[in-house]
Amino acid sequence: MAIRARARAGNPDAQVLADPALRADPYPLYERLRTAAPFADGALARISVHHDVCTDVLRSDAFGQIGAYRTDRLPPVLRLALRLAGPRAGVSPIDPPSMVAVDPPEHTRYRRLVSRAFSARAVAGLRERTRQIADELLDGLEREAAAHGGHVDLVARYASLLPVTVISEMLGVPVAMRDQFLAWGDRAAPDLDTGVNWSTHRDVERTLVELDAWWRGHLRQLRRDPGPDLLSALVTAVDDDGSGLTETELLATAALVVGAGFETTVNLIGNGAALLFAHPDQRRLLAEHPSLWANAVDEVLRIDPPVQRMPRRARRDTTVHGSPLAEGEWVVLGLAAANRDPRVFPDPHVFDVARTNAREHLAFGSGIHFCLGASLARMEGEVALRALFERFPDLDLAGYGRRRDTVILRGYRSLPVVLGSTSPRGRSASGESRSDQEPAGTSSA
Ligand code: HEM
Repeated sequence: MAIRARARAGNPDAQVLADPALRADPYPLYERLRTAAPFADGALARISVHHDVCTDVLRSDAFGQIGAYRTDRLPPVLRLALRLAGPRAGVSPIDPPSMVAVDPPEHTRYRRLVSRAFSARAVAGLRERTRQIADELLDGLEREAAAHGGHVDLVARYASLLPVTVISEMLGVPVAMRDQFLAWGDRAAPDLDTGVNWSTHRDVERTLVELDAWWRGHLRQLRRDPGPDLLSALVTAVDDDGSGLTETELLATAALVVGAGFETTVNLIGNGAALLFAHPDQRRLLAEHPSLWANAVDEVLRIDPPVQRMPRRARRDTTVHGSPLAEGEWVVLGLAAANRDPRVFPDPHVFDVARTNAREHLAFGSGIHFCLGASLARMEGEVALRALFERFPDLDLAGYGRRRDTVILRGYRSLPVVLGSTSPRGRSASGESRSDQEPAGTSSA
């Protein structure tokens, strides 16, 4: 109600939160906040749309995660909402002790235990397997389309399945569970948002209880019979001081890494495909210069990021670009808007796969919580989009895509497409290695 009242009073940030129709294209609303610096008045807290301010707050130890603080320091309206909601029914991947919800020293400890599995080198070793998964899914897409007059939903049959398959294999979660995980992920995703209605909140809670029970059983089994996967390693991991993770820490970490592993990358693939449908010139450029694919993925992340915004709280009285903030004050970092800051990105609203500094976006955050899966997500996005557009050069939209209802996570719920003819060039036998080299003289941004 508080958000809706602010939206009616003309606050652009509240309008984005309150109105799904406006959320279809929130970027003009973010621009209305651009003249206020370092912060504009947001829906419930001050918000920044500036690249330098967002970066500085994310990198400053004067700010921490909101979940790491006592709820009595939250804005009164959120305190009331939390009191009405009652205690959480299950361990949530976005509440303490999840790594994304805590500050050092706990954060340092959790992150150290899992980070090796996600290093750029570890991810490079997964590229070929990811390509095989993409090829298998594209075969399935072709079969499905053949049975439906060439039409298929790109999100249900490809964009969502690729990341969940990769992360499941990587972490030792049974791949047969992937549809169940996608369904749980879909129901739990609104948990990130502020201002969800009561029935959505109850459904999130029910989902967390189901997830909690499944994870406890799975971790028990890994303890009895560990495999060569990351979760088995975590179950038995001990830190420098000889201590391991408690059951709750383990559960929160596992649920976060698996959830973050597919709930965001599906949106990168969907948003990327939609942008390429809308920009045939950029698609042609990629067909002519395939070495631009990696940069194209960063440009997708810049111009339409899957994580649109993030909150932080001041851990002490502090000043940001001359603006004082009191200890406990909450600020929102508008990552999606910062990615269109004209002081960093010339012609910021133009989708340009050859943009030289596309990688400077804040889609993965910054500072100590910088996305653990950034290398994995970039690799998956590149493999998935390239394999798709090379296999089906005539691929096109066959109707309107439907966006997800969520605020923080931005992506497509469905994207109906028609495949068109298949290119023999884009078809690669599983396991066949492909050269990513380009003829000399073509430049990668
Ligand atoms: C395009 C895909 C992705 C996007 C846009 C994305 C975005 C983000 C952002 C913005 C954060 C910072 C949160 C904060 O500072 O509060 C983050 C953290 C995180 N991400 Fe990702 N992510 C993606 C893919 C992945 C994948 C594939 C994984 C797989 C493991 C992953 C795991 C994590 C984890 C564990 C954190 C918490 C890190 C920490 O607290 O130190 N993400 N992600």
